Amino acid sequence: MLSGVKTVAWSVVFGLMLVCAGCQRAALTVSPPVSGGDYAARTADCVACHSIPGGEAFAGGLKMGTPIGAIYSTNITPDPETGIGKYSLADFDRALRQGIAKDGHRLYPAMPYPSYAKLSDADVAALYGFFMKEAPPVHQANRKTEIPPVLRTRWPLAIWDVVFAPRSSYAAKPGHDTAWNRGAYLVQGPGHCGACHTPRGLGQQEKALDESSPKYLAGAELDGWYAPSLRGEVRTGLGAWSQTDIVDFLKHGHNRIGAPFGSMIDVVNNSTSYFSDSDIQAVATYLKSLPATTDQPSLAKDTTTTAAMMNRPSAQPGGAVYAGYCASCHGFDGKGFAPYMPGLAGNPVVLHDNPSSLINLTLNASIPLVVAGAPDAYRMPQFRQQLSDQDIADVLTFIRKGWGDQAPSVTTAQVAKLRKRTDPASDQVIVLKMR
Ligand code: HEC
Ligand code: HEC
Ligand code: HEC
Repeated sequence: MLSGVKTVAWSVVFGLMLVCAGCQRAALTVSPPVSGGDYAARTADCVACHSIPGGEAFAGGLKMGTPIGAIYSTNITPDPETGIGKYSLADFDRALRQGIAKDGHRLYPAMPYPSYAKLSDADVAALYGFFMKEAPPVHQANRKTEIPPVLRTRWPLAIWDVVFAPRSSYAAKPGHDTAWNRGAYLVQGPGHCGACHTPRGLGQQEKALDESSPKYLAGAELDGWYAPSLRGEVRTGLGAWSQTDIVDFLKHGHNRIGAPFGSMIDVVNNSTSYFSDSDIQAVATYLKSLPATTDQPSLAKDTTTTAAMMNRPSAQPGGAVYAGYCASCHGFDGKGFAPYMPGLAGNPVVLHDNPSSLINLTLNASIPLVVAGAPDAYRMPQFRQQLSDQDIADVLTFIRKGWGDQAPSVTTAQVAKLRKRTDPASDQVIVLKMR
């Protein structure tokens, strides 16, 4: 594909651009980044929310749901009229770490300032340098929120901030080494991993912001995807993952157990796959230090019963669907073909009580994984047309009870509900290239 080749070559020569894997459009600048701010922007994944596929890098416009109506992310390019070109360092700092825009209005916490509050002064300054001097200005007006006018007043956010948002940068925890502290900083601060992986309370706040609570990174559902526990549970968390498994997943998008999909794709495509080797090791070190919240017996793999179930379709309808639609890639033994076709037997993503990610992926597939400029060759197909709600409930129940796994059944109602709320995954994806 010629245009693809050209875009990749340009990215080496010029500074920065946004490639949408399906449509290949680019925004370019000639100034080479010098501040290290581009790396900070990677670790904080600013592009994931402040860009849309086919749009310009950091020009905003992404629609985000809130309980009271949709809002749009804003233009954070240095354009003085429509972007943040008139922000001083102090203004920028206040927006990032306190959630207050230059004109004084409170930002909705869809902008993850409760996590960015932990950013170091040095990273805030580096980010400011990057967004003022290196990101190309784009003239594009912000879109208005779709929140009804009576609810549009932002003063309640001031109260929310006092109650829920922390106010100080990350402080190294004594008793832990440098790698652990660096990992904690990256996960809690710029990486804002808790925004998806930590359960939320009644005020939509994350129930915990660091490892002092067992709720931190304990698993949560957001936008139809369930982000599993990143703690030490043996079945439903990362208890059976080694340090290397975590590193491979985040850096290369594959490991011997699973592959990223759903909303985790944006994180791997534009952020963690660019982390330096020592930073990604630090993240894994920190995650491996989070203890399990529940004691779970490890899995005893049992392939004989599963084989029998597959041979008796009437007794186990899901077994027939599995044999017909899934086994070619995931294997009759449920072991997959690592690292490209993930195994399903004993995979924590499969075992969690909440089946949303499994249903969503089976209905809609996932946006593409693009690591180091290369789109992944093997992807899960979507089954929205081929399989009924009943088929999907049956096959997922089969997988969740197969090979000795013991997760709860999936119901037809759960599938029907997500089918209504979701759309097939787009093959267009935001891929930011820098340097
Ligand atoms: C998870 C999504 C998300 C991420 C990640 C994110 N933002 Fe935002 N940001 C938003 C949304 C949504 C708004 C608008 C909120 C509102 O209107 O209340 C916003 C608003 C802002 C504003 C205020 C802009 C204005 O118009 O005055 C700035 C500045 C900003 N973001 C900078 C950043 C930077 C820098 C990063 C990376 C370090 C970043 N954001 C990462 C979602 C995000
Ligand atoms: C053409 C090969 C192929 C077929 C057929 C297939 N899958 Fe997949 N599946 C994949 C790949 C590749 C992934 C990795 C994630 C992705 O591509 O989005 C995956 C991921 C998964 C996952 C998440 C596991 C993880 O850790 O990433 C589940 C669950 C899953 N598939 C279930 C199914 C079910 C149920 C069926 C049959 C209805 C099925 N798959 C059919 C290739 C396939
Ligand atoms: C935008 C939401 C979102 C953010 C932010 C996010 N994740 Fe995820 N993550 C998910 C979802 C959804 C899954 C389940 C799908 C999958 O396995 O890829 C997941 C899965 C994972 C897994 C695999 C777990 C398993 O049992 O298979 C790891 C490891 C992970 N995330 C680490 C991280 C880290 C580290 C960060 C912060 C740097 C992070 N995530 C930020 C949504 C997110």
